[in-house]
Amino acid sequence: MDTVSVRQFEEESARLRELIRDIKASLDDESFFNQHTRHVVELIKGLSRQVAEHFSLEEAGNCYAGSEAVTLELAGLADALRSEHRTLAAEIDGIVEQAESLVPDAVDSESSQRRIASRIRVYCRRLRDHERRENELLLQAYSEDVGVGD
Ligand SMILES: [Fe+2]
Repeated sequence: MDTVSVRQFEEESARLRELIRDIKASLDDESFFNQHTRHVVELIKGLSRQVAEHFSLEEAGNCYAGSEAVTLELAGLADALRSEHRTLAAEIDGIVEQAESLVPDAVDSESSQRRIASRIRVYCRRLRDHERRENELLLQAYSEDVGVGD
């Protein structure tokens, strides 16, 4: 990483993890979501902003540059992961839109909340899986670069 410091990146990742923890905790308690809908919607909007910052740091920090330089196969993986950023950003924006249209006390508000909660859970799993594959790519690129790959 050059333009983005490792520390900046670690701080941002910690904020993202903390936000995901808070959101999951608030969604696990259905009555909390029901009683504090605006607060939960704000958390979801915060997640969308944090994810956007996370992706832009990863892209600006050249997280992928090393892997692209090592082998064609890693370059392909890096491209695929980078393009997932757009899909993941669009998905969380869609969830924000759905959450913002929640009308408190509407007849169907509980089922809408449940749908949003389930979309968020699926989203967090996809995001975690994406990050895991990114970490694996970086490790693989690093080990091939220093010649310890198999
Ligand atoms: Fe990423």
